[in-house]
Amino acid sequence: MSEAAARAFPNIALVKYWGKRDTSLILPVAGSLSLTLDTYATTTTVRLDPDAAADSFTLNGVPGAAIPTQRVTRFLDLVRERAGSTARARVDSLSEIPTDAGLASSAAGFAALAVAAGAAYGLELDARALSRLARRGSGSAARSIIAGLAVWHAGDDAQSFAEPVRGPEFTMIILTLDRSAKRVSSRDAMVRTAHTSPFYDGWISSTAQTLDAALAACRADDFTALGLLTELHALRMHALIQSADPPIRYLKPASIAAFDRVEELRAAGLECYATADAGPNVVVIARPEDAVQVATELAVLGETRVVGPGPGATLLTDEAGLTDEVGLTDGAAG
Ligand code: PMV
Repeated sequence: MSEAAARAFPNIALVKYWGKRDTSLILPVAGSLSLTLDTYATTTTVRLDPDAAADSFTLNGVPGAAIPTQRVTRFLDLVRERAGSTARARVDSLSEIPTDAGLASSAAGFAALAVAAGAAYGLELDARALSRLARRGSGSAARSIIAGLAVWHAGDDAQSFAEPVRGPEFTMIILTLDRSAKRVSSRDAMVRTAHTSPFYDGWISSTAQTLDAALAACRADDFTALGLLTELHALRMHALIQSADPPIRYLKPASIAAFDRVEELRAAGLECYATADAGPNVVVIARPEDAVQVATELAVLGETRVVGPGPGATLLTDEAGLTDEVGLTDGAAG
Protein backbone atom coordinates (compact mmCIF):
# COMPACT_ATOMS: atom_id res chain seq x y z
CA MET A 1 0.00 0.00 0.00
CA SER A 2 1.47 3.37 -0.88
CA GLU A 3 -1.32 5.33 0.72
CA ALA A 4 -3.04 4.85 4.06
CA ALA A 5 -5.23 6.80 6.46
CA ALA A 6 -5.63 6.39 10.21
CA ARG A 7 -7.50 8.02 13.06
CA ALA A 8 -6.51 8.43 16.71
CA PHE A 9 -7.78 10.29 19.77
CA PRO A 10 -6.01 12.28 22.50
CA ASN A 11 -5.48 10.84 25.97
CA ILE A 12 -5.40 12.40 29.42
CA ALA A 13 -3.05 10.93 32.02
CA LEU A 14 -4.15 10.02 35.55
CA VAL A 15 -0.57 9.12 36.51
CA LYS A 16 1.53 11.61 34.57
CA TYR A 17 4.56 11.21 32.35
CA TRP A 18 7.08 13.94 33.12
CA GLY A 19 10.72 13.34 32.29
CA LYS A 20 12.77 11.23 29.89
CA ARG A 21 15.68 9.02 30.72
CA ASP A 22 16.55 8.88 27.01
CA THR A 23 15.56 11.88 24.91
CA SER A 24 16.29 10.25 21.58
CA LEU A 25 14.41 6.99 22.19
CA ILE A 26 11.84 8.87 24.34
CA LEU A 27 12.04 6.49 27.27
CA PRO A 28 10.20 7.85 30.32
CA VAL A 29 11.72 7.96 33.81
CA ALA A 30 8.59 6.23 35.12
CA GLY A 31 5.44 4.56 33.79
CA SER A 32 2.12 6.38 33.39
CA LEU A 33 -1.62 5.66 33.15
CA SER A 34 -4.15 7.42 30.93
CA LEU A 35 -7.59 7.37 29.36
CA THR A 36 -7.87 7.61 25.57
CA LEU A 37 -10.85 9.85 24.77
CA ASP A 38 -13.78 9.44 22.38
CA THR A 39 -13.64 13.07 21.20
CA TYR A 40 -11.29 15.33 19.21
CA ALA A 41 -9.94 12.82 16.67
CA THR A 42 -6.97 13.39 14.42
CA THR A 43 -7.22 11.75 10.98
CA THR A 44 -4.01 11.48 8.99
CA THR A 45 -3.34 10.35 5.43
CA VAL A 46 0.14 9.33 4.28
CA ARG A 47 0.80 9.08 0.53
CA LEU A 48 4.20 7.96 -0.72
CA ASP A 49 5.61 10.27 -3.36
CA PRO A 50 8.84 8.71 -4.72
CA ASP A 51 9.42 11.72 -7.03
CA ALA A 52 9.34 14.28 -4.22
CA ALA A 53 12.61 15.65 -2.84
CA ALA A 54 11.19 16.23 0.64
CA ASP A 55 8.23 15.24 2.79
CA SER A 56 5.33 17.65 2.96
CA PHE A 57 2.93 18.13 5.85
CA THR A 58 -0.37 19.94 6.14
CA LEU A 59 -2.49 20.42 9.26
CA ASN A 60 -6.16 21.21 8.59
CA GLY A 61 -5.26 22.09 5.01
CA VAL A 62 -2.55 24.58 5.95
CA PRO A 63 1.14 23.79 5.25
CA GLY A 64 2.82 22.89 8.56
CA ALA A 65 5.38 25.26 10.12
CA ALA A 66 9.08 24.33 10.01
CA ILE A 67 9.33 22.63 13.41
CA PRO A 68 6.24 20.38 13.15
CA THR A 69 7.25 19.46 9.58
CA GLN A 70 10.74 18.56 10.82
CA ARG A 71 9.22 16.35 13.54
CA VAL A 72 7.08 14.59 10.94
CA THR A 73 10.13 14.02 8.69
CA ARG A 74 12.23 12.69 11.57
CA PHE A 75 9.41 10.32 12.45
CA LEU A 76 9.03 9.17 8.83
CA ASP A 77 12.80 8.57 8.72
CA LEU A 78 12.33 5.91 11.42
CA VAL A 79 9.57 4.26 9.40
CA ARG A 80 11.61 4.44 6.17
CA GLU A 81 14.62 2.93 7.89
CA ARG A 82 12.56 -0.07 8.99
CA ALA A 83 10.84 -0.39 5.61
CA GLY A 84 14.09 -0.04 3.64
CA SER A 85 12.52 2.78 1.65
CA THR A 86 13.77 6.19 0.61
CA ALA A 87 10.42 7.42 -0.72
CA ARG A 88 9.26 10.77 0.60
CA ALA A 89 5.63 11.24 1.61
CA ARG A 90 2.77 13.69 1.68
CA VAL A 91 1.19 13.80 5.11
CA ASP A 92 -2.20 15.46 5.50
CA SER A 93 -3.63 15.69 8.97
CA LEU A 94 -7.07 16.84 10.09
CA SER A 95 -7.40 17.59 13.78
CA GLU A 96 -10.77 18.04 15.48
CA ILE A 97 -9.07 19.51 18.54
CA PRO A 98 -9.92 23.20 18.49
CA THR A 99 -6.49 24.89 18.49
CA ASP A 100 -7.61 26.94 21.47
CA ALA A 101 -9.04 24.07 23.54
CA GLY A 102 -5.87 23.77 25.58
CA LEU A 103 -5.56 20.05 24.81
CA ALA A 104 -2.28 18.71 23.47
CA SER A 105 -2.67 17.41 19.94
CA SER A 106 0.66 15.58 19.67
CA ALA A 107 -0.56 12.31 21.24
CA ALA A 108 -3.40 11.80 18.76
CA GLY A 109 -1.26 13.22 15.95
CA PHE A 110 1.68 10.84 16.30
CA ALA A 111 -0.55 7.83 17.08
CA ALA A 112 -2.47 8.43 13.82
CA LEU A 113 0.79 9.07 11.93
CA ALA A 114 2.37 5.85 13.27
CA VAL A 115 -0.57 3.74 12.07
CA ALA A 116 -0.94 5.49 8.69
CA ALA A 117 2.80 5.66 7.91
CA GLY A 118 3.38 2.06 9.06
CA ALA A 119 0.69 0.86 6.64
CA ALA A 120 1.71 3.17 3.76
CA TYR A 121 5.33 1.94 3.93
CA GLY A 122 4.17 -1.69 4.16
CA LEU A 123 5.26 -2.49 7.72
CA GLU A 124 3.35 -5.14 9.63
CA LEU A 125 3.08 -3.76 13.14
CA ASP A 126 0.99 -5.09 16.01
CA ALA A 127 -0.39 -2.80 18.73
CA ARG A 128 2.78 -3.15 20.82
CA ALA A 129 5.08 -2.25 17.91
CA LEU A 130 2.81 0.66 16.95
CA SER A 131 2.86 1.96 20.52
CA ARG A 132 6.68 1.81 20.59
CA LEU A 133 6.80 3.59 17.22
CA ALA A 134 4.28 6.30 18.22
CA ARG A 135 6.34 6.90 21.38
CA ARG A 136 9.22 8.13 19.20
CA GLY A 137 7.05 10.98 17.89
CA SER A 138 5.74 12.12 21.27
CA GLY A 139 5.92 10.09 24.48
CA SER A 140 2.22 10.32 25.31
CA ALA A 141 1.32 9.14 21.77
CA ALA A 142 2.34 5.61 22.88
CA ARG A 143 -0.87 5.58 24.96
CA SER A 144 -3.20 6.86 22.20
CA ILE A 145 -2.61 3.63 20.24
CA ILE A 146 -4.62 1.87 22.96
CA ALA A 147 -8.39 2.10 23.65
CA GLY A 148 -9.61 3.45 26.99
CA LEU A 149 -7.39 3.01 30.03
CA ALA A 150 -3.76 2.40 29.09
CA VAL A 151 -0.57 1.88 31.06
CA TRP A 152 2.69 2.97 29.39
CA HIS A 153 5.61 1.03 30.81
CA ALA A 154 8.98 2.52 31.63
CA GLY A 155 11.87 0.32 30.53
CA ASP A 156 14.17 -0.06 27.57
CA ASP A 157 13.13 0.49 23.96
CA ALA A 158 11.61 -2.98 23.61
CA GLN A 159 9.67 -2.80 26.89
CA SER A 160 8.44 0.77 26.75
CA PHE A 161 4.99 0.44 25.16
CA ALA A 162 1.41 1.01 26.28
CA GLU A 163 -1.19 -1.68 26.78
CA PRO A 164 -4.82 -1.85 27.92
CA VAL A 165 -5.80 -2.00 31.59
CA ARG A 166 -9.18 -2.84 33.05
CA GLY A 167 -10.44 -0.48 35.71
CA PRO A 168 -13.42 1.41 37.09
CA GLU A 169 -15.73 3.20 34.69
CA PHE A 170 -15.48 6.98 34.74
CA THR A 171 -16.04 10.04 32.60
CA MET A 172 -13.89 13.12 32.05
CA ILE A 173 -15.07 16.73 32.10
CA ILE A 174 -12.68 19.00 30.21
CA LEU A 175 -12.77 22.47 31.75
CA THR A 176 -11.29 25.08 29.41
CA LEU A 177 -10.15 28.08 31.42
CA ASP A 178 -7.51 29.74 29.30
CA ARG A 179 -7.07 29.57 25.55
CA SER A 180 -3.63 31.11 25.18
CA ALA A 181 -0.76 28.97 23.89
CA LYS A 182 1.64 27.74 26.57
CA ARG A 183 4.93 29.61 26.86
CA VAL A 184 7.20 26.62 27.52
CA SER A 185 6.62 23.36 25.60
CA SER A 186 6.36 20.18 27.66
CA ARG A 187 9.46 18.92 25.83
CA ASP A 188 11.61 21.87 26.98
CA ALA A 189 10.02 22.04 30.42
CA MET A 190 10.80 18.35 31.05
CA VAL A 191 14.48 18.95 30.32
CA ARG A 192 14.63 22.03 32.54
CA THR A 193 12.91 20.19 35.39
CA ALA A 194 15.28 17.24 35.11
CA HIS A 195 18.36 19.48 35.15
CA THR A 196 17.37 21.94 37.85
CA SER A 197 14.70 20.65 40.24
CA PRO A 198 16.07 19.44 43.59
CA PHE A 199 12.94 17.26 43.86
CA TYR A 200 13.44 15.30 40.64
CA ASP A 201 14.69 12.04 42.20
CA GLY A 202 11.75 12.05 44.61
CA TRP A 203 9.39 12.59 41.70
CA ILE A 204 10.76 9.56 39.84
CA SER A 205 10.53 7.18 42.79
CA SER A 206 7.13 8.47 43.98
CA THR A 207 5.66 8.25 40.47
CA ALA A 208 6.59 4.57 40.28
CA GLN A 209 4.82 4.04 43.63
CA THR A 210 1.78 6.06 42.56
CA LEU A 211 1.52 4.00 39.37
CA ASP A 212 1.61 0.74 41.36
CA ALA A 213 -1.12 2.07 43.67
CA ALA A 214 -3.21 3.28 40.70
CA LEU A 215 -2.93 -0.10 38.98
CA ALA A 216 -4.00 -1.78 42.24
CA ALA A 217 -7.01 0.60 42.36
CA CYS A 218 -7.84 -0.40 38.77
CA ARG A 219 -7.68 -4.10 39.63
CA ALA A 220 -9.93 -3.48 42.66
CA ASP A 221 -12.37 -1.46 40.49
CA ASP A 222 -11.94 1.32 43.07
CA PHE A 223 -12.85 4.70 41.54
CA THR A 224 -12.31 6.59 44.81
CA ALA A 225 -8.73 5.36 45.24
CA LEU A 226 -7.95 6.04 41.56
CA GLY A 227 -9.45 9.53 41.78
CA LEU A 228 -7.49 10.48 44.91
CA LEU A 229 -4.25 9.26 43.32
CA THR A 230 -5.04 11.19 40.11
CA GLU A 231 -5.44 14.51 41.92
CA LEU A 232 -2.43 13.92 44.17
CA HIS A 233 -0.20 13.06 41.23
CA ALA A 234 -1.26 16.09 39.16
CA LEU A 235 -0.49 18.46 42.04
CA ARG A 236 2.86 16.74 42.61
CA MET A 237 3.74 17.15 38.94
CA HIS A 238 2.91 20.86 39.03
CA ALA A 239 4.86 21.29 42.28
CA LEU A 240 7.84 19.64 40.58
CA ILE A 241 7.55 21.84 37.47
CA GLN A 242 7.32 24.96 39.64
CA SER A 243 10.54 23.93 41.36
CA ALA A 244 12.56 24.17 38.14
CA ASP A 245 15.05 27.03 37.77
CA PRO A 246 13.87 29.36 36.30
CA PRO A 247 10.45 28.20 37.59
CA ILE A 248 7.66 27.21 35.20
CA ARG A 249 4.07 27.77 36.29
CA TYR A 250 1.38 26.26 34.08
CA LEU A 251 -1.49 26.60 36.55
CA LYS A 252 -3.25 29.97 36.69
CA PRO A 253 -5.47 31.39 39.45
CA ALA A 254 -8.49 29.99 37.56
CA SER A 255 -6.92 26.51 37.60
CA ILE A 256 -6.39 26.67 41.37
CA ALA A 257 -9.99 27.86 41.75
CA ALA A 258 -11.10 24.77 39.80
CA PHE A 259 -9.13 22.43 42.09
CA ASP A 260 -10.74 24.22 45.08
CA ARG A 261 -14.22 23.85 43.57
CA VAL A 262 -13.67 20.15 42.96
CA GLU A 263 -12.64 19.72 46.59
CA GLU A 264 -15.81 21.56 47.68
CA LEU A 265 -18.01 19.40 45.47
CA ARG A 266 -16.44 16.29 47.00
CA ALA A 267 -17.02 17.64 50.51
CA ALA A 268 -20.67 18.19 49.52
CA GLY A 269 -20.94 14.52 48.46
CA LEU A 270 -20.45 14.81 44.69
CA GLU A 271 -17.44 12.64 43.98
CA CYS A 272 -14.98 14.08 41.45
CA TYR A 273 -11.22 14.64 41.15
CA ALA A 274 -9.13 17.13 39.21
CA THR A 275 -5.99 16.89 37.09
CA ALA A 276 -4.14 19.23 34.71
CA ASP A 277 -1.49 18.75 32.03
CA ALA A 278 1.21 21.20 30.97
CA GLY A 279 -1.21 24.12 30.81
CA PRO A 280 -3.84 25.99 32.82
CA ASN A 281 -6.87 23.93 31.81
CA VAL A 282 -8.31 21.36 34.20
CA VAL A 283 -9.79 17.93 33.55
CA VAL A 284 -12.14 16.46 36.14
CA ILE A 285 -13.01 12.80 36.48
CA ALA A 286 -16.35 11.57 37.83
CA ARG A 287 -18.49 8.48 37.79
CA PRO A 288 -20.51 8.36 34.53
CA GLU A 289 -23.80 8.92 36.39
CA ASP A 290 -22.45 12.10 38.05
CA ALA A 291 -20.74 13.61 35.01
CA VAL A 292 -23.54 15.94 33.87
CA GLN A 293 -24.04 17.30 37.37
CA VAL A 294 -20.30 17.85 37.84
CA ALA A 295 -20.12 19.61 34.47
CA THR A 296 -23.07 21.83 35.43
CA GLU A 297 -21.41 22.75 38.74
CA LEU A 298 -18.14 23.63 36.96
CA ALA A 299 -19.73 25.61 34.13
CA VAL A 300 -19.48 28.88 36.12
CA LEU A 301 -15.67 28.57 35.89
CA GLY A 302 -15.25 27.95 32.17
CA GLU A 303 -16.42 25.95 29.17
CA THR A 304 -17.07 22.29 29.98
CA ARG A 305 -17.14 19.25 27.72
CA VAL A 306 -18.02 15.74 28.89
CA VAL A 307 -15.95 13.03 27.20
CA GLY A 308 -15.74 9.28 27.65
CA PRO A 309 -13.32 6.46 26.92
CA GLY A 310 -12.58 6.10 23.22
CA PRO A 311 -11.05 3.65 20.74
CA GLY A 312 -7.39 3.02 20.03
CA ALA A 313 -5.71 4.23 16.85
CA THR A 314 -7.50 2.79 13.83
CA LEU A 315 -6.46 2.14 10.24
CA LEU A 316 -9.12 3.53 7.90
CA THR A 317 -7.91 2.04 4.61
CA ASP A 318 -7.55 -1.57 3.51
CA GLU A 319 -5.27 -3.06 0.84
CA ALA A 320 -7.48 -1.71 -1.94
CA GLY A 321 -7.37 1.74 -0.41
CA LEU A 322 -11.06 1.57 0.53
CA THR A 323 -12.36 3.04 3.71
CA ASP A 324 -12.96 0.10 5.99
CA GLU A 325 -12.45 0.76 9.65
CA VAL A 326 -10.20 -1.88 11.15
CA GLY A 327 -9.78 -1.76 14.93
CA LEU A 328 -6.21 -2.41 15.98
CA THR A 329 -6.92 -2.93 19.64
CA ASP A 330 -9.96 -4.41 21.26
CA GLY A 331 -11.78 -2.07 23.57
CA ALA A 332 -10.75 -2.65 27.14
CA ALA A 333 -12.09 0.81 27.79
CA GLY A 334 -12.82 2.06 31.25
O1 PMV B 1 4.05 13.56 25.18
P1 PMV B 1 4.35 14.96 25.57
O2 PMV B 1 5.76 15.35 25.28
O3 PMV B 1 3.32 15.92 25.01
O4 PMV B 1 4.20 15.11 27.19
C1 PMV B 1 2.97 14.98 27.87
C2 PMV B 1 3.09 15.47 29.27
C3 PMV B 1 1.80 15.58 30.08
O5 PMV B 1 0.68 15.76 29.23
C4 PMV B 1 1.89 16.80 30.98
C5 PMV B 1 1.57 14.37 30.97
C6 PMV B 1 1.09 13.11 30.31
O6 PMV B 1 1.40 12.04 30.85
O7 PMV B 1 0.39 13.16 29.29
